Amino acid sequence: MGKALEGVRILDFTHVQSGPTCTQLLAWFGADVIKVERAGEGDATRGQLRDIAGVDSLYFTMLNHNKRSMTLDTKRPDGKKVLETLIRQCDVLVENFAPGALDRMGFSWERIQELNPRMIVASVKGFGPGPYEHCKVYENVAQCTGGAAATTGFDDGPPMVSGAQIGDSGSGLHLALGIVTALYQRNTTGRGQRVLTAMQDAVLNLCRVKLRDQQRLERNGVMEEYPQFAEGRFGESVPRAGNASGGGQPGWILKCKGWESDPNAYIYFIAQAQVWPSVCKLIGREEWILDPDYATPKARLPRLMAIFAAVEEWSTTLTKFEAMDILNKYDIPCGPILSMKEIAEDPSLRATGTIVEVDHPERGSYLTVGNPIKLSDSPTEVRRSPLLGEHTDELLSELGYSPEQIAMLREERVI
Ligand code: COA
Repeated sequence: MGKALEGVRILDFTHVQSGPTCTQLLAWFGADVIKVERAGEGDATRGQLRDIAGVDSLYFTMLNHNKRSMTLDTKRPDGKKVLETLIRQCDVLVENFAPGALDRMGFSWERIQELNPRMIVASVKGFGPGPYEHCKVYENVAQCTGGAAATTGFDDGPPMVSGAQIGDSGSGLHLALGIVTALYQRNTTGRGQRVLTAMQDAVLNLCRVKLRDQQRLERNGVMEEYPQFAEGRFGESVPRAGNASGGGQPGWILKCKGWESDPNAYIYFIAQAQVWPSVCKLIGREEWILDPDYATPKARLPRLMAIFAAVEEWSTTLTKFEAMDILNKYDIPCGPILSMKEIAEDPSLRATGTIVEVDHPERGSYLTVGNPIKLSDSPTEVRRSPLLGEHTDELLSELGYSPEQIAMLREERVI
C-alpha cells in the first residue's frame, strides 16, 4: 500500500525533541526524511540519558524512527556545497536551531529561495517575534511562558509543569500540520513559504480554555466549576484548578483500593449531569437524587468536594479497574490512572500499533510509541532510528557524488 507523503523529501535539520517529533511524523506518513547531523557527534540526544553505554539513547531512538542519517559539517565550504545540493533536491527543510543559527550558517530564507523557490522552510523557535525572540528555549520554559504552568497544580502550591511534553512534542505536532498545509498550498502557487511554530504559541494553543476562563473571570469575578468557588476565593487571574475538569462536567481524581502504597491507585471520576441518579444509587445516597441541594448541576456546584469525598468512600473499597468496570456499566464517565508500566504492558495499545516493539542492531529490542494518527490508506510501519551517518554514502551517491568525491569529503572530515 502506498504512503500519504510518498515522494516528499525532507531535509531534516532538527535536534533534541521538538523538531525530531515533527519529522518523525512526516516519515511515518511516508516522506523521505534525511536527518543531517553534525559530523562526529550528531544530535546531542544520541548521548543523553543513556541506559546502555556507547549505544544511542532511547531519547534519540524514540524520536527518530523511519529516517535516514547523514553526517555533514555545514560550516565548511565543501559541506555548504553538499547542503546546497540537498536544498535544491528537497521539498522541505525543517530546523529547530537556536534563533539565527541558520543565517549564521549562510542559509538565510533569501539564500534558500535562490537555491530552490519551491522549498518550504519550517522552524520551531521558543518565541515568535517580540522581546524574547532571540532566546533559546527548552520544554519547561515553553510550559511556563505558554500558560500551562500557571494553570497546573493546586492553588496552595507552586506552578507545576506537566509530564506531557506539550512544549516540545506539542510544537512538533503543530509544525507538522503547518508543513503539510504549506505543501498543499504549493500545489497551486508553485512556491515554498516559511512555517513557524513558536513553542510558547503551541502551548498557549493547548491552554486555550484557560484564556477563555481568564475572560470569564474578569467579567463575572467567579467561575462556578472551579474548586475555589465553594469558598469564593478568586484573584485576578485564572487559578490552578487541581484535578478539576476543564469542561462543563465536574470531575476529580479519587482514591481507590491500595492508594496508601500504590501512587497510581486512583480513578478520574466525572459527575456527568445525565447519570447523576446512577451515581447516587451506586454510592448509597439515593436521597441526593431529589434533594434540592443536590438535584441539579447548579445546586451541586458549591458542594462538589463533599460529593467527590462521598464517591471516594465508595471507590476506596475497589481497585481502580473494578471501579472502572462498575462505573462504565452505568455509563458514568471515568478513567483509571494508568502507570507507565501498565501502559507499556497494555495489550490493546500493542494491538493498534500505538505501542510498538522495535529491534535495534546495537540495543536489541525496545518499546516505543508508534504513530498516534491512523490513516486507513497509509498505514505506519515503525522502523528503527538510523545510526549516526548510517546513510551518508548512500545519500551522497543519490545526490550524484562519486565514490572518490565521497572519500575526499570523509578525509577532509566534512562527513
Ligand atoms: N554542522 C556544523 N554546525 C552545525 C551543524 C552541522 N551539521 N548542525 C548544527 N550546527 C551548529 C549550529 O549552526 C550552531 O552554531 P552557531 O551557534 O555558531 O550558530 C550550533 O551548532 C549549535 O546549535 P544550537 O541550536 O544553538 O544548539 P544549542 O545546543 O546551543 O541549543 C536549543 C539547543 C534547543 C536550546 C536551541 O537549538 C533552541 O533554542 N532551539 C529552538 C527551540 C527548540 O526547538 N527547543 C526545544 C528543543 S527540544
